[in-house]
Amino acid sequence: MNLKNRDFLKLLDYTPEEIRYLLDLAHDFKKKKQEGIEHKYLKGKNIALLFEKTSTRTRCAFEVAAADLGMHSTYLDPASSQMGKKESIEDTARVLCRMYDGIEYRGFSQEVVEELARASSVPVWNGLTDEFHPTQMLADMMTIEEVFGNLKGLQLTFIGDARNNAANSLMVVCSKLGLNFVACGPKELWPNEELVKTCQEIAKETGSKIMVTDDIDEGVKNSNIIYADVWVSMGEPDEIWASRIKLLKPYQVTMDLMKKGNNAIFMHALPSFHDLNTSIAQDINEKFKIPEMEVTDEVFESDRSKVFQEAENRLHTIKAVIYATLKED
Ligand code: CP
Ligand code: NVA
Repeated sequence: MNLKNRDFLKLLDYTPEEIRYLLDLAHDFKKKKQEGIEHKYLKGKNIALLFEKTSTRTRCAFEVAAADLGMHSTYLDPASSQMGKKESIEDTARVLCRMYDGIEYRGFSQEVVEELARASSVPVWNGLTDEFHPTQMLADMMTIEEVFGNLKGLQLTFIGDARNNAANSLMVVCSKLGLNFVACGPKELWPNEELVKTCQEIAKETGSKIMVTDDIDEGVKNSNIIYADVWVSMGEPDEIWASRIKLLKPYQVTMDLMKKGNNAIFMHALPSFHDLNTSIAQDINEKFKIPEMEVTDEVFESDRSKVFQEAENRLHTIKAVIYATLKED
């Protein structure tokens, strides 16, 4: 398998075998890290981390992965680069690829990361756009493998804003790796029909099913994995909270909902509004009287919840992507 110099923009661009290879690498890197085996395979290389939206996990995973591989990384936050304001994306890419061996980008439209990749001579990795979050998917699949020992034939239900970046990417990765996928949410928030069709075609090849429903019982009844995400994503306007809460309150993941699944585990990319320990959750609770949002604290803190294992796996999977696309032959 040779992924050298490949961009990592969305999983639609990768074959099931290539995704499998990245997951195998990630499992191996996790083992090495746990056993304290040094793996500075990319000494002397440099990567740039461009963030037009905030981040904890993705930024830290890239920085620690780079350090573990013997590399140096530069973080550019949403306010401190010229990109987009004084310098076009294309010019930024043409500058950075003369200094760096790889570029991570988190931003808004998918088109921007695709443009960055076209203008750059070094690999570009998508650290989240409005449409897709492909590095998250590798961590999610790795976690599911650790819990169940396999992927094929399992059912994952995404419940909530079923057309956001996490939901879209889960639909893609499940179709590629042979998991059944259900997008469960109100009709107003169903995924793009064209993307559903594309994933259904891929699923035919891998022997899985892609379904969309607004019926919770039907959506979760055979599910091994119930997956939630925030109701309002980064970049969406504050005015949207009222309508989202109205639409999505019935889809909140409670212990009763979890019991409707097939002994399901709970997953979430994080951050999550499961209590009142954040300023946004407090503001929303003041306005709308809702102390828990997409998931109750009971589910989040339960044994069924794999969210912190999932967060750790961001490191190992992002390391796999960096290594596979930059390694020397
Ligand atoms: N899951 C995820 O991407 O987290 P951050 O926004 O903290 O990077
Ligand atoms: N849908 C969320 C995912 C965060 C990891 C967002 O875009 O804000």
